[in-house]
Amino acid sequence: MSTKTATITFNDGKPAVELPVLSGTLGPDVVDIRTLYAKSGVFTYDPGFMATASCRSAITYIDGDKGILLYRGYPIEQLAVQCDFLEVAYLILNGELPTRAQKDEFVSIIKKHTMVHDQLTRFYNGFRRDAHPMAVLVGVVGALSAFYHDAMDISDQYHRDISAHRLIAKLPTITAMAYKYNVGQPFMYPRNDLDYTANFMHMMFATPCERYEPNPVLVRALDRILILHADHEQNASTSTVRLAGSSGANPFACISAGIACLWGPAHGGANEAVLHMLEEIGDVSRIGEYIKRAKDKNDPFRLMGFGHRVYKNYDPRAKLMRETCHEVLNELGLHDHKLFKLAMALEKIALEDEYFVERKLYPNVDFYSGIVQSALGIPTRLFTAIFAMARTVGWIAQWNEMISDPEQKIGRPRQLYTGAAQRDVVPIGQRG
Ligand code: SDX
Repeated sequence: MSTKTATITFNDGKPAVELPVLSGTLGPDVVDIRTLYAKSGVFTYDPGFMATASCRSAITYIDGDKGILLYRGYPIEQLAVQCDFLEVAYLILNGELPTRAQKDEFVSIIKKHTMVHDQLTRFYNGFRRDAHPMAVLVGVVGALSAFYHDAMDISDQYHRDISAHRLIAKLPTITAMAYKYNVGQPFMYPRNDLDYTANFMHMMFATPCERYEPNPVLVRALDRILILHADHEQNASTSTVRLAGSSGANPFACISAGIACLWGPAHGGANEAVLHMLEEIGDVSRIGEYIKRAKDKNDPFRLMGFGHRVYKNYDPRAKLMRETCHEVLNELGLHDHKLFKLAMALEKIALEDEYFVERKLYPNVDFYSGIVQSALGIPTRLFTAIFAMARTVGWIAQWNEMISDPEQKIGRPRQLYTGAAQRDVVPIGQRG
């Protein structure tokens, strides 16, 4: 039990309040404020939760100042090089890296869930052909909650496990189907002779007329993108999944809520926004104009792919993504890729600019991921859907951790009320 405490004193005569200070394995201590209101009648105020720990978690740890990202204690740099996505998914879900036998069993389980219920395909016909893939994912993943009544007791670990396996297995199928529907091609069934990421690329790029032979270098690159996006502490979409799940809601509906939050350009939608920004900048000669706009408080324009709520140093994922970018462009003979060269120039200029240096605005994971995906032939509108595909394992692991946490309660923040004081209704005929 923690012996550290913090004392809050008030200058309006309220008695001082002593609060426990809790320590984790790594990272800042936290002041446990659960008794603050009962002891003092005051709340804390923290819009955007800049300095608030919402839960205990053992899944991911970020040190924003040192540019460190650990999944279950393992550095992302080692996982991205030595493991594949399903190995990392197993780690994030279960807390330990799998043995060869455990991995083989996990892969076999996931493969058995890659197909979707045939009736689910009818949902796609309700969308316009040009519907944004994220809108489709929100709808179709949410609709999964209408299909799986056989695993609805979330207090039962087996039901939580099968929901996790279904989501991890089906997100690539649902995402590829969104792409096929968009381009007017028939859906491709999963191929269980292919590994997870190669199977996704098959469902994306194969047609009934032509087999798709995955290029191992490109498959490895996309697999690494999935690893880098798998989890990231209590980011906005993960917090959305936790808050939705805290009411006991259906896990598929909770993941759908996470997808909706991830779609925003300030969050997962940034990789798509980076490509649009680079296309709009168009040439190195115009970078200065956009850097100027990014610094102008009267201009809503921000440099997409730069800055992060936690990383005040280089996002370690951005470094790995940059390397992957080089590998893919070299493999495809695109080292003179215009957007990549523009991105490298923009990164250099921004990192030398005082405004960005002062505010510690470094490239984040989204800065290069869009270029890699574009080089892989993935349409820009699908970038965030692929982010959602990867983050699903993090979301469902965090959801599972929350549901099994004995301290878990329904999330219900308070507020600082700034509206009208109590007043009486005046009959409409007497209103001024
Ligand atoms: C992801 O949380 C996660 O972990 C998210 C994520 C994950 O894996 O889940 O890492 C994925 O969402 C990465 C972030 C992708 N978003 C973008 O690339 C969009 C561009 N970035 C910004 O919108 C912004 O940096 C945020 C939203 C990412 C972070 O915003 P914060 O922490 O709220 O920072 P802030 O808005 O308070 O900015 C601090 C200062 C401000 O200037 P001042 O008021 O101090 O003068 O920095 C400026 C901001 O105006 N600023 C930027 C900027 N980002 C911040 N100015 C220009 N361009 C930018 N990109």
